[in-house]
Amino acid sequence: MKKADFNTIFRIRDPFVFTVFGASGDLAQLKIFPALFALAEQKRFPEKLAIIGYARSKIETAEFRTIFADSVKKYYHGTWGAYQDEILEELLSSVHYFSGQYDQVDDFSGYKKFIEVLGFESKETVHIAYFSVPPFVVESITLGLAEVFEPQENDLRLILEKPFGEDEKSASALFNVLHKNYKNQQLYFLDHYLGKKAVRSLIPLRHMNRILNTMLKGKEIASIQISALEPMGVGDRVGYFDEVGTIKDVVQSHLLQILAMTTMSIPVDASAERVQEERAAILEALEFRPEKKNISLGQYEAYKSEDPKVSNSDTETFAAAKLFINRESWYDVPIFLRTGKKLHEKHTYLVVELKKFKFQGEDEEPNRVIIEFYPTESIQIRLLDEDGATLRHGEIAASESIACFGDYCLPEHGLLLLDVIRGDNRYFLSQSEIIASWRITDQVINFIASENLKPEIYKTGTEGPNSQHDLMEGTKFKWYDNH
Ligand code: BG6
Repeated sequence: MKKADFNTIFRIRDPFVFTVFGASGDLAQLKIFPALFALAEQKRFPEKLAIIGYARSKIETAEFRTIFADSVKKYYHGTWGAYQDEILEELLSSVHYFSGQYDQVDDFSGYKKFIEVLGFESKETVHIAYFSVPPFVVESITLGLAEVFEPQENDLRLILEKPFGEDEKSASALFNVLHKNYKNQQLYFLDHYLGKKAVRSLIPLRHMNRILNTMLKGKEIASIQISALEPMGVGDRVGYFDEVGTIKDVVQSHLLQILAMTTMSIPVDASAERVQEERAAILEALEFRPEKKNISLGQYEAYKSEDPKVSNSDTETFAAAKLFINRESWYDVPIFLRTGKKLHEKHTYLVVELKKFKFQGEDEEPNRVIIEFYPTESIQIRLLDEDGATLRHGEIAASESIACFGDYCLPEHGLLLLDVIRGDNRYFLSQSEIIASWRITDQVINFIASENLKPEIYKTGTEGPNSQHDLMEGTKFKWYDNH
């Protein structure tokens, strides 16, 4: 692995306070603490640093440090850099815990005092509050923080993780509350798919390579398909998952963001505003043609027995949908999206199928641009070549720009955290994007409800429900499994 020179990497300035709300939850332990360690391993943190876990559990700092250390040891990945005990020890000396409720102003005042006692009373302090909490407490935390911190006066930035509301209406209501106290530049709406290197590299690659961009034009493309297949089930998250289902959990933000990053017009300058505007333009133009053949729902066999509470549930653990982009050059290009749990593999990828020449035969494979997000991160262009009497279909180009180098050695949340510290909103969602994504999701969900569509039960370890193939019926397309 190549690493950037430590003298040239971006370091976080003094004094810096990073607070994780919901510090005892899964997300914090799985993603956030290992990402903080990765930043420490790269020597990004300033001397005057506090990492504070805020949660309701009545534990002490010593116990929290053990939780923090265990999570790093368990989830830190060697590909991000070498694990070293000394670095963890040093980081732990800056880790603290504050036990408080999420809706008690007194607790927020206590938390502010706690920070001051630690020596972070100056207005120079950069405060980042990371929300790793269920949606129903988000509002009260933002209000509690606003009450004690005067966000207009202090450098306080909030990182909110999806889901942002549960539909267009609730998302708008959340934004209204946030705007009473916070400026746009203080709000970071995080979708961890925008921390994936293959997704991020789309902007520079498309910006610098006309050849790639020429291929990603609506008039050149026959279809686009995105698959996010997972072998895991919902596990402990069944309570949350059963309320939302996979359309809201994965399609609404992750898949639509990948789609937007691939199909948006590249902005002339790569500022956050321009990039967000272009993504929003695609998301606002998405169209669902309300017909049963444009949607497939599935539920894995064992789902109803995961918890007695879901024994009668019709929540989908698999969904596939056909959408269109209602813009001149994209109008007839079908977009196929699918995602599901308890499937045969973990594989996340996007396939752009290019148009063929009129004179090419039916059985000739089309050219494809393939973007792999997992298990590898790469962009490939598949061309056809003549190999004796047979046609060869091989990988002609793969981008190296997404190898581990400098910032790119960081995990998704580490990269996104650096963006927040730099004040770069490019890889975060704007409110227009979130509203547009909900609008199309709401249309699909309302159609499912109005037609009373039920998920097809599928066996664990398979490719999911057969009805996913109905989306392709009457077209010349098929789902690509191995590209
Ligand atoms: C999360 C969803 O946002 O993304 C999970 O809540 C899903 O249900 C996960 O498994 C997938 O992320 P990744 O990075 O593993 O593709």
